[in-house]
Amino acid sequence: MIFDASGRTSPGGALSGEEVFRDAGRSVAERVEDLLSRMTLGEKLGQMMLLDARQDLPDAILDKHAGAILHASPTRIHQAHELVERTRLRIPLLVAEDCIHGHSFWPGATIFPVQLALAATFDPTLVQLVARVTAVEAAATGIHWVFSPTLCIARDPRWGRVNETFGEDLHLISELGAAMIRGYQGDRLSDRDAVLACAKHFAGYSETQGGRDASEADISRRKLRAWFLPPFERAVREGCRTVMTGYQAIDGVPVTANTWLLRDVLRGEWGFDGTVVTDWDNVGRMVWEQQIRADITDAATAAVQAGNDVAMTTPTFADGAETAVHRGLIEQTQLDDAVRNILRLKFELGLFEDARLPPPQRQRQIGAETHTSVNLQTARRSLVLLRNNGTLPLDYRAARLRVAVIGPNADNAQGQLGDWAGSSGQIDWMPQGHPREAIQTVLDGLRSVAPTGWEIGYARGADIVEPVAGPTGMLLPDGQPAPALPTPAAVDPALIDEAVLLAKAADHAVVVVGDEILLTGEGRSTATLELFGAQIALLDAVAATGTPTTVVVISGKPLVLPGSALNADALIQAFSPGMQGGRAIAELLLGHIEPSGRLPISIPRHAGQLPVFYNTVRGQHGDRYADLTQEPQFVFGEGLSYTEITYSDLSILTPEVTPDDAVRATVRLTNTGSRPALETVQVYVRDIVTSATWADRELKAYKQVSVEPGTTQEVTLSVPAGACSIVTADGRRTVEFGAFELLVGKSARLAHLLAAPFSIS
Ligand code: NOJ
Repeated sequence: MIFDASGRTSPGGALSGEEVFRDAGRSVAERVEDLLSRMTLGEKLGQMMLLDARQDLPDAILDKHAGAILHASPTRIHQAHELVERTRLRIPLLVAEDCIHGHSFWPGATIFPVQLALAATFDPTLVQLVARVTAVEAAATGIHWVFSPTLCIARDPRWGRVNETFGEDLHLISELGAAMIRGYQGDRLSDRDAVLACAKHFAGYSETQGGRDASEADISRRKLRAWFLPPFERAVREGCRTVMTGYQAIDGVPVTANTWLLRDVLRGEWGFDGTVVTDWDNVGRMVWEQQIRADITDAATAAVQAGNDVAMTTPTFADGAETAVHRGLIEQTQLDDAVRNILRLKFELGLFEDARLPPPQRQRQIGAETHTSVNLQTARRSLVLLRNNGTLPLDYRAARLRVAVIGPNADNAQGQLGDWAGSSGQIDWMPQGHPREAIQTVLDGLRSVAPTGWEIGYARGADIVEPVAGPTGMLLPDGQPAPALPTPAAVDPALIDEAVLLAKAADHAVVVVGDEILLTGEGRSTATLELFGAQIALLDAVAATGTPTTVVVISGKPLVLPGSALNADALIQAFSPGMQGGRAIAELLLGHIEPSGRLPISIPRHAGQLPVFYNTVRGQHGDRYADLTQEPQFVFGEGLSYTEITYSDLSILTPEVTPDDAVRATVRLTNTGSRPALETVQVYVRDIVTSATWADRELKAYKQVSVEPGTTQEVTLSVPAGACSIVTADGRRTVEFGAFELLVGKSARLAHLLAAPFSIS
């Protein structure tokens, strides 16, 4: 070990010559090359490691030369920067955090509805704003890199991570993913409040077996190109600077070792010049989990050769890669390419000029009122009204109304935040979750929104889970904390009696059921989708009182609902709606706002029906099971207003187009009720004959239109003909000439769609 003049440890010797890399006047390329030329092999391999800041930080930064950290608590971020100052080259750290729907693990940060709920808004402008607010709050705490958005396409709601997706449609995922990336990265990465976005999990991670997390994805290259890759391609076009590889293997090869995906498609075909990061210990997993490499040397070799730049939380990566270099398994030049990609990000962010330590004065913005109001607005837009026999909205002009607020999720503050928030299990410095006063539950919301004179009573009525310690102890084999195992909570007659008494004495009951954190999230897939624990008993008991009832489902994923929920007077789906969710639900119940959310994912009647996504491929005998229809309970795009909108007069303005044109059409919307609506006009395309089997219809565009009561509006619609493509049997995406249909309406349900023909030639 050598010490330089300033007393820093200097494994490669003191710096000499002009430090071009510190000169902000030079180009990024010059600075990268200069810095690279000064780095030892150990320093280069260190840059390729993203380590867990909850572990031994001095070891990570001083000994392993880690280039990036994640899960750094507010105090550990400062410590990490101080340690960097003691290294020879003082290469600034990249500080990463998940920040999936808000700055997850900063107490009091704005926690928005989960991504699935954001998707229900169908509103890229709002989603971009959500990401912008998240970037501002994250950047103020010293975060440079968020692991968001998730671009996995939801295929099986038993998968625990459905809440992190934008649902089941690739057009919607692509639009909203692009919006989120714009929001995070802002106009310029060098802006103090821009953070790097990360498109994940590349690719096919959601193609699970039976919903089981990270199971081998049975998926062909054609199928990848058809459904799974387009949102990532769009993200790359949007300038997303980083991409995370999924855990899973496809056709025997983990994505982390998939040269075709990472080099040929991502970098070759799409021209991605950013940084590829693995998911959690993907390199190590090839040895201890997938067992396709004998040791870490072989695993690191596979990861570098396939084109990964950063290994997440594999502390032995550098040792493995160093041995691989000495054995001639990987070339130094391959490492240089990876390190270039990482250093480029650091220069683009301007970290050499300003390492962006958490500046206390900027932290005043965290949880600021303006952010809370974006959050409330987002929660309002994310709520989906699925059933209503006219009972809603409640008459808020009534002088006196007794409302019984019932159910395990009516006042479950941390629970309604969903995964990746405070106490959701990933980090250890927020065991109590986010500050209670920052969260509005349904009970809080009703108490603050209801007019004076109304009586708001509350009874929990039932529990969802009875947690028991998991068999693997506190940690999973990969070092992540093992969640407790949820067993169904038993029916407690005393709780039910209390709820029934309350409901009987009320004019209206609001029963809030759903799931909770032990039933949703990474590694927390479920075999069933029914309401867990004592909830069905509670719903049945409240239904038996005959009191008019609204059921609100707060859950991270679609759930199979019992008759007592489906036949309630009204039914609202709220995918984990974030800190302001309860307030938004209360406003909706009272009709202070109009319902406008639409389902980004279909809701099955039974787990045995899966898959039920609307864009399944044509070709099977019949359309039902012997014992059950194949129709889901609720279909992609569905959602009611407090008024009725009818569609008529679909007319194609361009009956014949070329692939470079746009297909244009008009449709008339009439609001026949007495309240305004924000209608999401959905435009699907059906390709009548395709050279390979294809989905019967796919969403290609949508438009959100305000329609005042008693008015009719003509809406102009446009779909690029180039988007009416399929992927051929040999894997090429192309527009096949011939006859098509434009299907326009309020959901993907055939009965909701008007059809008109057009052709592409
Ligand atoms: C594992 C998850 O799969 C990924 O989505 C997340 O970003 C990392 N852990 C880091 O927390």
